[in-house]
Amino acid sequence: MFWTILLLGLAAGGWGIPTSSLSIEHGSHNGLDIEISVAQGLLKSPTDGRIVLMFAPNGTDPLQDTDVTSSPNYIFGKNVVGFSSRRTIDFAGGSNRSTETGVYGWPKVSLNEVPPGTYSVQAFLTKYERAKRSDGSVVSVRFPCGDGAPNVNGFGSLITNVTGFEVLGGQQTLKLVFDNVTAVDPLSGTEIGGCNQGNYQDTELLKYVKIRSKQLSAFWGRDMYIGANIVLPAGYDAKDTATRYPVIYSQGHWPADSGAFEYPSDTEFAEAWNNGTIPATNITAARPAPKMILVTFRHEAPFYDDSYAVNTANLGPYGDAINDELIPHIDRMFNTIRAPYARIQEGGSTGGWESIANVIYRPDLFGVCFSSYPDSLDFHRHQDIELYTNVNAYQRANGSFIPSIRTHRNGTEVVLATTAQENHWELTFGTASRSFNQWDIWNAVFGIQGYNNYPLEPWDKVTGEIYAEAVAYWKPFDLSNYVVSNWNTSRNLGSTLAGRIYIYVGTWDNYYLNEGVQEFQKRTDAVGGAGWANVTILPEKPHGGNYQDRDIWDYLELVDGWIKDHAPDGVSPLSSNVTAPSTRGNNWKEVIERGGRQAAIARQAPPEIQSKDVRVGTEVQASVGRWDPGVALKAQWAINGRPTCQEFNVKQGATVTYKPRGRGKLQLWVTGSKRNYATETRQSNKLVVQ
Ligand SMILES: *[C@@H]1O[C@H](CO)[C@@H](O)[C@H](O)[C@H]1NC(C)=O
Ligand SMILES: *[C@@H]1O[C@H](CO)[C@@H](O)[C@H](O)[C@H]1NC(C)=O
Ligand SMILES: *[C@@H]1O[C@H](CO)[C@@H](O)[C@H](O)[C@H]1NC(C)=O
Ligand SMILES: *[C@@H]1O[C@H](CO)[C@@H](O)[C@H](O)[C@H]1NC(C)=O
Ligand SMILES: *[C@@H]1O[C@H](CO)[C@@H](O)[C@H](O)[C@H]1NC(C)=O
Ligand SMILES: *[C@@H]1O[C@H](CO)[C@@H](O)[C@H](O)[C@H]1NC(C)=O
Ligand SMILES: *[C@@H]1O[C@H](CO)[C@@H](O)[C@H](O)[C@H]1NC(C)=O
Ligand SMILES: *[C@@H]1O[C@H](CO)[C@@H](O)[C@H](O)[C@H]1NC(C)=O
Ligand SMILES: *[C@@H]1O[C@H](CO)[C@@H](O)[C@H](O)[C@H]1NC(C)=O
Ligand SMILES: *[C@@H]1O[C@H](CO)[C@@H](O)[C@H](O)[C@H]1NC(C)=O
Ligand SMILES: *[C@@H]1O[C@H](CO)[C@@H](O)[C@H](O)[C@H]1NC(C)=O
Repeated sequence: MFWTILLLGLAAGGWGIPTSSLSIEHGSHNGLDIEISVAQGLLKSPTDGRIVLMFAPNGTDPLQDTDVTSSPNYIFGKNVVGFSSRRTIDFAGGSNRSTETGVYGWPKVSLNEVPPGTYSVQAFLTKYERAKRSDGSVVSVRFPCGDGAPNVNGFGSLITNVTGFEVLGGQQTLKLVFDNVTAVDPLSGTEIGGCNQGNYQDTELLKYVKIRSKQLSAFWGRDMYIGANIVLPAGYDAKDTATRYPVIYSQGHWPADSGAFEYPSDTEFAEAWNNGTIPATNITAARPAPKMILVTFRHEAPFYDDSYAVNTANLGPYGDAINDELIPHIDRMFNTIRAPYARIQEGGSTGGWESIANVIYRPDLFGVCFSSYPDSLDFHRHQDIELYTNVNAYQRANGSFIPSIRTHRNGTEVVLATTAQENHWELTFGTASRSFNQWDIWNAVFGIQGYNNYPLEPWDKVTGEIYAEAVAYWKPFDLSNYVVSNWNTSRNLGSTLAGRIYIYVGTWDNYYLNEGVQEFQKRTDAVGGAGWANVTILPEKPHGGNYQDRDIWDYLELVDGWIKDHAPDGVSPLSSNVTAPSTRGNNWKEVIERGGRQAAIARQAPPEIQSKDVRVGTEVQASVGRWDPGVALKAQWAINGRPTCQEFNVKQGATVTYKPRGRGKLQLWVTGSKRNYATETRQSNKLVVQ
């Protein structure tokens, strides 16, 4: 019956994604119907995951260009649950309203919108594994496997052959069979942990380490690894433990087997680094290269190619795993200087955010950051979205679409994608923030867990409607908000971080990241005085390059200078009071208590009739209960377990009133539904009507 709890195939344990509607669009035969099955033996047990189906221009490899700014493909996605060789999955139709169970496509939502023509068609299955995390949450996600977590066709995916197919415009059926597996790279090496984080061979100056993280393994309920690529300086001698080196921790995307900076992929730089001499140019003589250890991290994670290197409710204690497990391991294995002044954070873009966040949250561990074109430092501008004040993430009040990616051609800005296009494109690769793409990883890192166990998204991925309450939970990751609100607390960040934050961005940043930098500068200058953070904004520079767009040696010498100045024998030694344990933030216990499963449960409440027992005809009042932001509600009054009126729409936070016309036990039933949530009906307390 329609008012009973609509558990759309909710799996045991209540992990939240409705699951049983696989055949919901079966029989939609007014257009294309792609039937996908799997060859015997390829799935050992019923498997959950996402199928991505691509229609590419005839004769091309569908994977050749899947980028939002340029892809000629029609891309469709659909979740599967319990897929096996005994099942066939139908791809037909497609709708904005069925993204968790049905087909959703880009740039056209429905398969019926694929224009007639000849295509190269291929399907991919990304397999999900169910994880029960230590906070009680249960999610189905992909655990990357040494491949840097691509959004499709990661190692171990099932693939169909590329099939030529002519779309005629009427009803047509195409059968595809998953009969091959995307090969896992034959990675050799001596590291532990199988394919997770890869396995690479050491060279003389480039070393690979990988550890099992106790804290991440405890959170995810399975073995979790993290690794690092370590570039040693010329003349490094493991046995000479008296000669010790500062370390640059270079944050950023999945580095695979490459080193740090351009090393070793840039041969010229690698040669010079290896021999310790900066080559002469026509204007400068050859000179000794600064000697440091360069480290990049390998932390491909569920949700993205890297974890953002901080503690978050959706990815787990990656900050602690890297900083308190991996870095001490590196300090034990290599001749590092084990002091904050000699631990440098740097990176660009994603790595720009990670490097500044690590200094802001861990002044006790790191000395300084050189952060280049960082992801949004301040959510007054999340890229170009005014996240705290806009009502929609895709369109402004005047109806114009918010740009997301731009370039400049001959000085004129050209928009390559809007936030709407990019988010819709992402949604084809995964629902519930599982696309392994940019906006989704921000949802996972900055947001708390939703009641469905997945990231509590800040806006509706289809319509762009912003949920202010979900955005409010992002505050601890709004770095200017965090700094300013801890200015005078026991963390004392105003004086703790002074002189330790260097940021660079260009005014033509391709992702509008200059906006967030300017907000950060404005808000920290307002409390710390002009130049509290050393911010460089270079006119007409796009996204990319070294800090301040410097030549690599120039940059390394700048960093070396900072280290020398802040060493114990330098001109301004880094004082121990600005590296005190009390300055530390992003505490894992607080993060998971505020954003994990127990907090999600505690946020919920059933509807409640506030009036005391009444007589027939007296008005009663009830609240609709507490639900996650974005849950749409329908309510209905019932007496003695039977509805006494039609269902009606109610808003969250509303008070509803009713004048009962008969005796009995009165209740309010409220049904909540939201994309990627199980639809649920909650019943109020019972009020006796006499
Ligand atoms: C599609 O591509 C194949 C191989 O590249 C070619 O033989 C065929 O003629 C093309 N079909 C059309 C309709 O262009
Ligand atoms: C889906 O929504 C978009 C607007 O976001 C609209 O342009 C499009 O026509 C809709 N497609 C379908 C199939 O409903
Ligand atoms: C896919 O291609 C391979 C190699 O050509 C062939 O052996 C196999 O039968 C094809 N699979 C299907 C389902 O057509
Ligand atoms: C299976 O896929 C691999 C790529 O992962 C490819 O090299 C190989 O040719 C495919 N095998 C068949 C039979 O199609
Ligand atoms: C070191 O490498 C640089 C760059 O390749 C080269 O110019 C220089 O001659 C080398 N110096 C020594 C001492 O080998
Ligand atoms: C110095 O070298 C740069 C680039 O290598 C070149 O552009 C410039 O013309 C050279 N200057 C002189 C004076 O040779
Ligand atoms: C809408 O507002 C934006 C930002 O204020 C502005 O850049 C854009 O030109 C406006 N568009 C229209 C159509 O008015
Ligand atoms: C820039 O302008 C020149 C001269 O008008 C033109 O030839 C060139 O194609 C333009 N470049 C781009 C990227 O638009
Ligand atoms: C910090 O404390 C000082 C001294 O009490 C006060 O002047 C200043 O406004 C405070 N700043 C912030 C950001 O709270
Ligand atoms: C560290 O000590 C100096 C000198 O006593 C003082 O000026 C500064 O405020 C202190 N900083 C912090 C973060 O306690
Ligand atoms: C900011 O850093 C640059 C080096 O990048 C330095 O030249 C400049 O003096 C610094 N500004 C302040 C106010 O410290």
